[in-house]
Amino acid sequence: MGKRSATAQGLRKPVTCGAILGDQRVYLLVEGRKALGVLKVGRKRLFVEAPFRRNDFADVRNAFQEIEPLCALDFYVHEKCQRAGFGHHLFDAMIQRERIFPEQMGYDRPSPKLLGFLQKHYGLCKHKPQNNNFVVFDAFWDNGSKHGSDRGSPMNLPGTC
Ligand code: ACO
Repeated sequence: MGKRSATAQGLRKPVTCGAILGDQRVYLLVEGRKALGVLKVGRKRLFVEAPFRRNDFADVRNAFQEIEPLCALDFYVHEKCQRAGFGHHLFDAMIQRERIFPEQMGYDRPSPKLLGFLQKHYGLCKHKPQNNNFVVFDAFWDNGSKHGSDRGSPMNLPGTC
């Protein structure tokens, strides 16, 4: 699945291989002995530019921030099964298990398919282009979202685009 994922994303080598996981976690969607999808997540330290909010004072100290969100690092559903809800099923299982909301995560070099997926299922679209390859959605900075302390259990969120 790691190799197939790399091919689907046009990468030279797989991002996911069973031997070197460290503190990252891999979620597999299986049917019998067949793997249908794979999703790898792990924490990454990111230096990102936060979106400017109207009631923020223009303060450059707040413009760039270091964050360490859980990130989607590799996400792939077999070509024969795409656009049938399997990716949603797998991603939902991950956010339930990780006790996180999709907007609290970072996304490593998301493909157009993943961006469409996140918009469709979780209403995520607005984000500021960053110098690294990661996407952190504006909703990450909303009250209560950054630390996720005052929210209930993960669920699908209404569209915010
Ligand atoms: N073209 C455009 N959008 C797509 C496509 C596609 N070929 N496939 C899925 N999507 C998006 C759309 O929003 C689609 O909704 P729609 O059919 O109404 O337009 C939605 O995803 C479908 O949702 P699911 O069926 O739950 O998702 P799926 O099972 O297809 O899994 C995934 C999504 C993992 C992105 C899959 O399409 C895939 O493996 N793509 C190829 C590899 C890839 O791009 N992976 C992400 C790389 S970035 C990273 O890993 C951090």
